[in-house]
Amino acid sequence: MNLSRILEIDILGDDRGNLSVIENQVHVPFEVKRVFYIYSTKQGVCRGFHAHYKTRQALISVSGSCKVFLDNTIRTDEVLLDAPNKVLILEPNDWHEMYDFSEDCVLLVLASELYDSKDYIRDYNKFLEVYSKKTQEV
Ligand code: TYD
Repeated sequence: MNLSRILEIDILGDDRGNLSVIENQVHVPFEVKRVFYIYSTKQGVCRGFHAHYKTRQALISVSGSCKVFLDNTIRTDEVLLDAPNKVLILEPNDWHEMYDFSEDCVLLVLASELYDSKDYIRDYNKFLEVYSKKTQEV
């Protein structure tokens, strides 16, 4: 089982400001096939509430901040994404929920697969059924 992790990418700063770069399979450990972003999130909204069969993702709050709750059946974690150089790598086996979005939050998501609703596990009991077995094998 792969574990989610936070990567800190370089900030290339000069007197004009900052620039950070993410290259395919260099700064994220997969080929990026899809990019989407979540923004103008209403106060109090929670999103996500799913895991995947195949899709790996990298989450970056390029503006503002939000929190991510993670559950991989063995452990749970809460990650604060509050800097544009912090990249949260989410594995398919990470049940995730995003919340506490700041008004200015733009959450950028890079994904290893094209969108496929069949790749989602939205039922928590199904998630446990699929991944707790694999977890016991580790
Ligand atoms: P949804 O899965 O509900 O977002 P969240 O994971 O935050 O709960 O996605 C919202 C809508 O956008 C839903 O109708 C599916 C659609 N969608 C796409 O068409 N392509 C995509 O890549 C994503 C992520 C969502």
